[in-house]
Amino acid sequence: MNILAIETSCDETSLALIEAKGGLKAPKFNIKKHFIASQIEIHRAWGGVVPNLAKREHEKNLPLLFKKLEAKSYKLKANAIAVTVGPGLEPALWTGVNFAKEIKKKHFPKIYSERSRTTKIIGTNHLHGHMYSFLLPKSYKLKAISYPAVQLLVSGGHTILILMKSLTDYKKLGETRDDAAGEAFDKVARMLKLPYPGGPEIETLAKKGNPDAIDFPRPMIRDKNYDFSFSGLKTSVLYYLKANEAKSYKLKANVAASFQQAAIDVLITKTMRAAQEHNAKSIILSGGVAANSNLQKLMKLQAKSYKLNFLSANKKFQGDNAAMIAVAGYITHLRKKKYALKAKGSLSI
Ligand code: KG4
Ligand code: ZN
Repeated sequence: MNILAIETSCDETSLALIEAKGGLKAPKFNIKKHFIASQIEIHRAWGGVVPNLAKREHEKNLPLLFKKLEAKSYKLKANAIAVTVGPGLEPALWTGVNFAKEIKKKHFPKIYSERSRTTKIIGTNHLHGHMYSFLLPKSYKLKAISYPAVQLLVSGGHTILILMKSLTDYKKLGETRDDAAGEAFDKVARMLKLPYPGGPEIETLAKKGNPDAIDFPRPMIRDKNYDFSFSGLKTSVLYYLKANEAKSYKLKANVAASFQQAAIDVLITKTMRAAQEHNAKSIILSGGVAANSNLQKLMKLQAKSYKLNFLSANKKFQGDNAAMIAVAGYITHLRKKKYALKAKGSLSI
């Protein structure tokens, strides 16, 4: 089936047209069109995402991207529209939900008239988007996905460890009790006077620093649960910066590198322990923070040393995008799961 997907949960407006086939046994996706309009420059001036500005920009960008999509697809056919309903910023989510309803009414009865069935709208969970992003075109063969799998989903709003027995049979093992990993990267970046979003900035600055320079705490690393906590680590960075007034470039680079190492150590240690305790065959890494090349590299190495498959989307599909929403929409449709077509700020996996 052809799925037109819409993502507007935060500060990226994205549309995609994807052909999905294979069912739950062997899902396969062909990305026909995919556009992302980033609002980062607009929110940067405010040091973070401003919900009403995000709403305004989504409302401006959605029709522009849709025009582009239509222009590039000679015959735009969609059997379904997958739209993110949550979690995310409610004013931003509503723009996507309303746009889905609007285009279904305006365009699809006319454009897609081959069958009597009209295009349906699939309310889609943003977290499922990240969770299934590893299914987007990749070089590995699908048989590499052997279960059980332990997935670490690390984004700006969430840090979740998931045990997957199949694509649709999964449970949450643990999550953060305070800040999400991406949020900690963003907050530490702000302390270092780096622009928003902080994750990529920390990663770049960390390359010039020594990860062993400062012994920041690794919260909850030895706890016998799968929860995380990043607020103590963030506070330690704050105290360190207060105590070390001379903020030279070298000192900042050491702080970035040492903070990044501490956060990655916790994420990897807990993921690998969950994998061992649940006899996992695969490790899956997803979410915006999964774009961090150190995290990618070290997690991959660990997976290899335990002889586990390592699965993760290409970097361009780690951050928010509509392609992953099409994938999640397809699976939601196959599972016959239904979300109300209403923005839901908080929604769990
Ligand atoms: O998944 P995502 O795009 O949005 C949410 O659903 O939250 O994740 C955004 C988060 C931000 O906190 C951003 O700083 C972080 O992902 N991020 C990174 C990197 N690239 C993005 N964190 C660490 N290293 C990166 N290279
Ligand atoms: Zn996201």
